[in-house]
Amino acid sequence: MTHILKSMTAILSLIALSPASYAAEISPPTPQGWWPHFESMITLAVVLMAFAIAWLLNHASPKWRAIGTSLAALSCFGIVAWFGSVLASGVLENPKPFQAPMDAFKPTLLWIQAGIAFVGGCALIIVAAGQFSKGTRLVLSNANEAHRYGRVSRVLHWATALLFLFMIPTGIFASMIPEDAWYRTEYNVVHKTIGLIIFGLVIARLVWNRRSKRLALDASLKPMERKLAHSAHVLLYALLIAIPVTGYVMTSHHGYPTFFFLIELPSFLPESQAYIVWGLFHKYVLQYLVYIILGAHIIGALKHRFIDKHDTAFKRMVS
Ligand code: HEM
Ligand code: HEM
Repeated sequence: MTHILKSMTAILSLIALSPASYAAEISPPTPQGWWPHFESMITLAVVLMAFAIAWLLNHASPKWRAIGTSLAALSCFGIVAWFGSVLASGVLENPKPFQAPMDAFKPTLLWIQAGIAFVGGCALIIVAAGQFSKGTRLVLSNANEAHRYGRVSRVLHWATALLFLFMIPTGIFASMIPEDAWYRTEYNVVHKTIGLIIFGLVIARLVWNRRSKRLALDASLKPMERKLAHSAHVLLYALLIAIPVTGYVMTSHHGYPTFFFLIELPSFLPESQAYIVWGLFHKYVLQYLVYIILGAHIIGALKHRFIDKHDTAFKRMVS
């Protein structure tokens, strides 16, 4: 615990003391006079929260796992509360001009996602209550075992999953912020930094998969389910790489900077109209593919666990 606190203080002071040149570019004093670099603080808080939850969900003690589940529920309710404040800001009524006819559907999409977050939060509260009242110790090794994922794969899966799920509604909102809104750049710092972190996490996961072999699919899956589950896993890895890459290339061709916390990353690409094509992928093609593939992945996992009552596959990743 002391180690975690010390590391957090070190990272926070690094950000607070970083060169004034970065600071001036990204975070000039806001009209509201908030604390400096608040966008990096928020980003850091979101990332640390995702890792803390991912760690706790796989803790040996059932009480700590219940705390992890409760924090995940709290995050879902946080998303819902955030939508409330978005609505209060009036942005949904006055968004950036639509670029495609389907953009008119964005406010509805955001409301659907807020509804899913609310239902998810309620379901997680019920799960947490069960974990508090009854639960067994989970003794995990770091490496994957024959029939279940080890701690490293699990923490990487859940940290990535939480951050990715957070990025979908926040990305949609990013594309709706009016051009002259004072918080536009700050908001993009959060979106782009977390996008790059997700990219880093998937690379770390691919490297880890080479060291600790991925599991064969669960034996209880029917032949058709095996095919679907395998394709969904491969496609999810592909999307986890393609989405941040298209985001970076689109941004760079458009002539905008990419940020990693306070650091402005150079663009290795010239300004060009190609941003439209990359944007088409980042904002439309891949986003809708995500709904289908991730939807199938999550619904498939939940169906297998709660309808087919085969909890072995589910327990390979979380317990
Ligand atoms: C609430 C949401 C989620 C649930 C319940 C869930 C559940 C699971 C489960 C149970 C497995 C293990 C499947 C098996 O091997 O039998 C798994 C694997 C996987 N999940 Fe998820 N997942 C969720 C969200 C996500 C998200 C958001 C992503 C990425 C965007 C993701 C990507 C993956 C990948 C790539 C694997 C394959 C792991 C490997 O074999 O290397 N999952 N998930
Ligand atoms: C896994 C990572 C990422 C996910 C899941 C994600 C998701 C999204 C989504 C869903 C949108 C809304 C699209 C729309 O409805 O119009 C969006 C917009 C955007 N994304 Fe990402 N993104 C990711 C990474 C990145 C990265 C790494 C960058 C840049 C370096 C980036 C830059 C942008 C920008 C600039 C917009 C707003 C475009 C506009 O103003 O219309 N994204 N993102």
